[in-house]
Amino acid sequence: MGGGIVCWDAFVDDGEIATPQSARLAMTGASTIHIQPTGLNKMKPEETGSHYDRIALWWQEQHLHSTYGLAALEKAIKFAGNKSSALDIGCGSSGRFIVELIKNGFTPAGVDISAEMISLARKQHPGVNFYVGDICTWQLPRKYDLITAWDSTFHLPIAEQKPVLKKMCAGLNPKGVVLFTCGGGSVSDEISGGFQGENFDYSTLGVNEFLRLITEFDCSCKYLEYDQYPHNHVSIIAQKA
Ligand SMILES: C[S@@+](CC[C@H](N)C(=O)[O-])C[C@H]1O[C@@H](n2cnc3c(N)ncnc32)[C@H](O)[C@@H]1O
Repeated sequence: MGGGIVCWDAFVDDGEIATPQSARLAMTGASTIHIQPTGLNKMKPEETGSHYDRIALWWQEQHLHSTYGLAALEKAIKFAGNKSSALDIGCGSSGRFIVELIKNGFTPAGVDISAEMISLARKQHPGVNFYVGDICTWQLPRKYDLITAWDSTFHLPIAEQKPVLKKMCAGLNPKGVVLFTCGGGSVSDEISGGFQGENFDYSTLGVNEFLRLITEFDCSCKYLEYDQYPHNHVSIIAQKA
């Protein structure tokens, strides 16, 4: 059994493996559930936070020793011009990115809209600065050498995608790096789905628009991977000029 992972087009949870597609996900322990396109997403960030409050302990148990996303994080770390300050946006309760960042010489901080996620993360990593905040309104307290947003900003209302990407790019030191995940379609899209009995909304601007904006915000794409192909989940690494 491994931790469930979030695909763009499906959250895959631990469970029975039935199809060739889910067999591919068996390595992380998986069965696919209820996802539908809506185009009508209404969930506000605070509501997303409340849903995550209710599954924060489960999330921690599933991901404490999971390696999900760490290969991409390693790549992002290699690109970072300096390896001092880092911020994990939507860090969740496990702190597995935080641990990896510390191992690589960073002093990381984490921010999450779910107070319960942060409470558990603080207990797990008492020496680390954790903030409760909505990345849409929360002001970064400083600039960073590395900013990560693994499976977090894909929950934003679609109108917040551009301003938050701008905030992340503006929050980088020169040669700083941002790593984030998004839905990998070529056009903007909104979907809803549920796991662990909670509903969530997801949005994407589409890969082409994310890449265009990265350039507009003074960064260059260094790496892009459909890391759960054939699922539409994309990780992007970009570097500040
Ligand atoms: C799928 S979990 C990923 C957690 C962590 N990055 C990981 O990979 O284990 C999504 C996280 O993003 C957080 N999140 C969602 N919307 C947010 C927002 N607007 N501001 C800050 N955090 C947010 C959630 O509370 C949740 O902890």
